Amino acid sequence: MSMNKNARKIIIRACIFAGLGGLLFGLDQGFINGSLSFIKEEMHLSLIQSQSFASIMHLGCIIGVLFSGWVSKTIGRKRTLVLTALFFGFFSLLGAFTHDVFVLYASRFALGLAVGYASFVVPLYFSEIAPAKMRGGFIAMYQLMITIGIFAIFLSNSVIGTYFQSWRLMLGVIALPSIVMFLGAMFIPQSPRWLVLRGREDHAKAVLSSIREHESHAEDELNEIKESLDTDTKQGGWKLLKESYFLRVLGLGILLMLLQQFSGINAVIYYSGEIFKKAGAQHPAMGTVVIGLINVIFTVVAIKYVDKWGRKPILYSGLTVMTLTLLIIGSLFKMQENGIVLGNFSSGLMVAACIVYIAAFAMSLGPIMWIICAEIFPLEGRDFGITVTTATCWVACAIVVQFSLSIIHHFGGSALFFLFAICCVLGFSIVRLFTPETKGVSLEHIEGKLKSGEKLLRIGRT
Ligand code: BGC
Repeated sequence: MSMNKNARKIIIRACIFAGLGGLLFGLDQGFINGSLSFIKEEMHLSLIQSQSFASIMHLGCIIGVLFSGWVSKTIGRKRTLVLTALFFGFFSLLGAFTHDVFVLYASRFALGLAVGYASFVVPLYFSEIAPAKMRGGFIAMYQLMITIGIFAIFLSNSVIGTYFQSWRLMLGVIALPSIVMFLGAMFIPQSPRWLVLRGREDHAKAVLSSIREHESHAEDELNEIKESLDTDTKQGGWKLLKESYFLRVLGLGILLMLLQQFSGINAVIYYSGEIFKKAGAQHPAMGTVVIGLINVIFTVVAIKYVDKWGRKPILYSGLTVMTLTLLIIGSLFKMQENGIVLGNFSSGLMVAACIVYIAAFAMSLGPIMWIICAEIFPLEGRDFGITVTTATCWVACAIVVQFSLSIIHHFGGSALFFLFAICCVLGFSIVRLFTPETKGVSLEHIEGKLKSGEKLLRIGRT
């Protein structure tokens, strides 16, 4: 077999087993939808307690993300992936078997640590082993794996909910892909960049030779890694906080992540079942599965067109459709709150509006916020910048998941969805005033413009 084919095989294997981290992230993210009412009933949880159970995972995510840079630097990307899989498997089973509420909360928190690690280390590992020309595709595939995970758990929860009514089984099945990832990740290559960082150049060279088409490519890449590590270690993340250019992109990254979360996506991902039930929909579980599927399909569309149409036009269209659909959902809730009984048409319209809303999110704010955050930071502050923006995403997600059902309960669904619509309207200004178009320009170009004092809006212009 030629080296070419062997290299491809190793890369694909690494991509699948590391990518399972993205899938597991999606499974845990989507798990609540369809299981929460069973858990609430069996464990006698109040509304606040059940929302806290859903959102305690995000506390774990935040802590996981904050530590993942250090963990993956200390034990390496590969071992962090193996550890992540172990956490996913062990704590899913612990949660599935326990009868103690405290242990159940603790296991969900620990699953959050795993999600936090995965959200940092999977894209990092991808970007470090992918050949340069395939790097973007690898990172986009990670977002796709998350949406596939969300869809798979919606489907599995709906089947298990219908035939077995067991939230324990819903949680226990998450252990299966964890075991596959645990076993598979033991046989993937180490990250060459990490090996160089630890002074193990010979090993790094051997790995590069096994995953690149030609020996000369491996040599070149090894030299590039050494050079870029020189730049990397020149400035630490915290020191960059003194630089105004870095503060500006960090601020933009934080705003974009806040917008992604406060547009309400996870109120729908987590609680669409409850929302549909409240609207009197006939098949809430089915509606949820459709939402998961649409999320996957439109993420594929986004991957195909994001480099063709550009980030900003897609963001504007996404925000427009999201604002309109949120207003429709809010208005239907308002009618219900005013004593009008929603008939089949109106509850069907609400489900349809949620589906269109998800499609618009999946095409725009879903992948694009991650892409822009991966593009705007200068090399020496990339790890730090991405850690901060990812942690912001989890904090905002925790807030949405913790308070959505309470807002619906105390102020009505109209209040919640009108609030999300207002956030989307504010989002237009963030895109209009601060967000650069980064389509088709190199990262070095963006970095150069940023450091030369160019306005944020213009750092993507040639
Ligand atoms: C968001 C997640 C969300 C997912 C839905 C991601 O881009 O960061 O919070 O659950 O999209 O597909």
